[in-house]
Amino acid sequence: MSEPTGPTGVGPGQVVEVDVERVAHGGHCVARHEGRVVFVRHTLPGERVRVRITEGGDGDRFLRGDAIEVLRAAPERVERRCPYSGPGRCGGCDWQHVSTQGQRALKADVVREQLHRLGGVDREVVVEAVPGDDDGQGWRTRVQHAVDGSGHLALHKHRSHDVVAIDACPIAHPRVRAVELAAPVWPGARAVEVVAPAGGDGPLVLVEPTGATRPRWPAPDGASLGVVTADGIERVRGRTWVREDVPLPGALEPVSLRVSGSGFWQVHPGAPAALVGAVLEQLDPQPGEQALDLYAGVGLFAVALGAAVGPDGAVLAVEGDAGAVRDARRNLHDAPHVAITPGRVDRVLATLLEAGTTADLVVLDPPRTGAGRTVVDQVVALAPRAVSYVACDPAALARDVRTFADAGYELAALRAFDCFPMTHHVECVALLVPRG
Ligand SMILES: C[S@@+](CC[C@H](N)C(=O)[O-])C[C@H]1O[C@@H](n2cnc3c(N)ncnc32)[C@H](O)[C@@H]1O
Repeated sequence: MSEPTGPTGVGPGQVVEVDVERVAHGGHCVARHEGRVVFVRHTLPGERVRVRITEGGDGDRFLRGDAIEVLRAAPERVERRCPYSGPGRCGGCDWQHVSTQGQRALKADVVREQLHRLGGVDREVVVEAVPGDDDGQGWRTRVQHAVDGSGHLALHKHRSHDVVAIDACPIAHPRVRAVELAAPVWPGARAVEVVAPAGGDGPLVLVEPTGATRPRWPAPDGASLGVVTADGIERVRGRTWVREDVPLPGALEPVSLRVSGSGFWQVHPGAPAALVGAVLEQLDPQPGEQALDLYAGVGLFAVALGAAVGPDGAVLAVEGDAGAVRDARRNLHDAPHVAITPGRVDRVLATLLEAGTTADLVVLDPPRTGAGRTVVDQVVALAPRAVSYVACDPAALARDVRTFADAGYELAALRAFDCFPMTHHVECVALLVPRG
């Protein structure tokens, strides 16, 4: 925090009363106190609330706070569904106090505003529910738990190393909750991740120990158990990977993919199919076309593109994580026209461009920081007829959309999915095509 303002005497622990203006990116809303911005959690636009300041003070450009009393409620406000959420409690969810429709409207506002401010694009945004998601609870198939001082499963408070003990997390998938309830105490553990794959497999539990000793951990019968070490995952029981079954759209056969315990996978069970459906709809791949799947993970989009372009086409997946590459090799084994190249996307693309490679289609699914100018310029140099950009951060997407625009590609379509209900996160799938 910078740019000092005059002393106001307001600081952590103090309570102020504010009118809440609009939603901001990050799970909070903007209000003002004596001219200074306050980012307020646990509130909604249009509300009047009493706010306990949690961060910032004299000399800071903005403050942070929690709404601890609602004096005028917004129509989208509902009773909090989670006993662990609320001011000073678990920080995992941002919007447990908002109707699911209301949450999607807030996320749409954030995506629209980021595209306008950072991307220079004005467009209407609708955030769609992931098919099969009724109430936004019970969806999270991977939960990384902290462990409190007595060994009990816990989750972190907002912007804090402090934790809140929990019995069962309401947004966790029922098969994750079953492990939480059956095995609540993990002596000698620093963290416990529970993975419940969307297939027939039992759960996989990954334990990060506090020291060198390995107590007898309580993973329930039927669960695989692994220990996270500096060198990777050490198998204790069962397997260190899971199988994820994904239905593909239209006439494409469903796929079953191997995902190692530590590897990236969408945590909402409906998300992989929804995102693949949106990408294929935007790219409309034709038999015989050449496609690139950049930041490919275990090969989700590469498998679907391979099926769509058929054996006369070709797909090249690029992925930097060695474990994901190993999984992708197994997942792509039956499709000889789909290959994976390990390495950093910018380096692999530099080599491809040097060799004069072009592509018809590109899927771009970078981490939260976005693809960035180098990769965007490289993608444009491949001269694809369409790029489908899967983005978990609308700010990074908006910045890259502006870079694409500078290079002659325009935003032609956008879908947004509520892949993370109750949190501020939203997944976008943007179509970029050559302008004109
Ligand atoms: C958001 S995940 C997408 C994975 C995959 N497309 C999926 O949907 O399952 C991003 C992936 O990019 C990989 N990654 C991150 N930075 C990279 C880079 N510079 N070059 C290559 N891969 C990278 C990560 O290991 C991760 O698997």
